[in-house]
Amino acid sequence: MHHITLDSETDFDGWRKAARMLVLNDVSPADVTWRVQGDVPELFEPTALPLETPQGGGFNVSAKFLELAKTAILHRNGERVALLYRLLWRLRGNHDLLLIATDPDVAEIAAMAKAVHRDEHKMHAFVRFREIGREQKSHFVAWFEPEHHIVELSAPFFARRFADMPWSILTPDVCAHWDGHAVSITPGVAKSEAPTEDRLEETWRRYYASIFNPARLMVKAMQTEMPKRYWRNLPEASLIRPLIESAERTASAMIAQAATEPHKSQKRQEPPMKRKQAADDIEALREEAADCRACPLWKDATQTVFGEGPQTAEIMLVGEQPGDKEDLAGKPFVGPAGQMLDRALQEAGIDRAKVYVTNAVKHFKFVPRGKIRLHQKPNTSEIRACRPWFERERAAIKPALVVAMGATAAQSVFGKITPINKSRGRLIDLEDGTKALVTVHPSYLLRLPDADARAQEYQRFVDDLKIAAALLRKSARAA
Ligand code: URA
Repeated sequence: MHHITLDSETDFDGWRKAARMLVLNDVSPADVTWRVQGDVPELFEPTALPLETPQGGGFNVSAKFLELAKTAILHRNGERVALLYRLLWRLRGNHDLLLIATDPDVAEIAAMAKAVHRDEHKMHAFVRFREIGREQKSHFVAWFEPEHHIVELSAPFFARRFADMPWSILTPDVCAHWDGHAVSITPGVAKSEAPTEDRLEETWRRYYASIFNPARLMVKAMQTEMPKRYWRNLPEASLIRPLIESAERTASAMIAQAATEPHKSQKRQEPPMKRKQAADDIEALREEAADCRACPLWKDATQTVFGEGPQTAEIMLVGEQPGDKEDLAGKPFVGPAGQMLDRALQEAGIDRAKVYVTNAVKHFKFVPRGKIRLHQKPNTSEIRACRPWFERERAAIKPALVVAMGATAAQSVFGKITPINKSRGRLIDLEDGTKALVTVHPSYLLRLPDADARAQEYQRFVDDLKIAAALLRKSARAA
């Protein structure tokens, strides 16, 4: 029997070195036990056998396996290192083993890697720093309880994102610290060491309450994106329950009011909209897009902000890219441009809950300026890299109309640079017969300095949306 002790739970190099030596010594997975420094050894453990450094010889494994192993080793499952060794052992005899997705070992390791990536995304989204000290001497401290061993994996993200502020992320496993130059890792601490309140707390809560839209509340979806286990460490969490309850009360009151029977003549035999065959499932697409690495924007963004809305939507609204608020919330158009859009949709007679809203580019592009993240326009190669997501969303939703808001959206919808003014305000046929409509982006309206011009442009925007509303009514009548 061979006993291998790794330096830490995340000691991939130690595992790799030991695994290589074991394979070259022809040691079967059944003859190895794996431990981490500090684990208590079994009471009656057989004596360890020495390993020989082999003369020459060797073997190669694919970069794909190494990538998978590097991620899966961060899973909290105690069997993962043994399982990784078994997979490595089996790969010697079957180089294509990783292609067999139904193989139980391959499937288990792949599921572990996926869970680790998901946890990494959640950490990017749900770490909340609290400020200790004041201004010049401020240090930012966050408490987080990751599901897996992902602190070292995630630390470079926070170093890039918050490059100019010193921070510490405390967790029960290990803590990561950034001093403006380098990340350091220290042992884990108890929650009692983390601050519980700071002067910015109220701002966070006010912000959360302001983007909370009771008309768009979907408790189940919300709990999937923001699982309850993270609530206890979010400053805005204390608001979630009361906001949900008050939204439910409003919704119940609306339902009670609307419960009158329509006149016979108004009753329809069929639902007014045509029903569509589902292509790609939009939830499966969203999950796939969460790991998108098609362009470098994912590195600094918190998360992929995928489209949102019913798969049966007749209208698909396309914006440019998520902004600062969307990047944090993981939802499109929830910030100031989103509020402008909501208002205009309402005035045009379109219910946002029935519309699919997405962006041409799914990651936030910005440059940091102190604590602010300044929006940067995506370039053509980023728009192109992201276009397959838009195409697949469109194929899944099959909308009757796609509304491109702004130049970036138009470039994605038409697959080429499309000037707004030339194409604005009229229905255009896409290749497959779907209608497209071009209009301005709501942020353009927010940026207009002159109040009169702003009011005038806003009205033109509403008028464009009314073309969409009219098309909807026509398609409802035809159904
Ligand atoms: N601007 C966009 O184009 N999309 C958003 O989601 C928010 C702002």
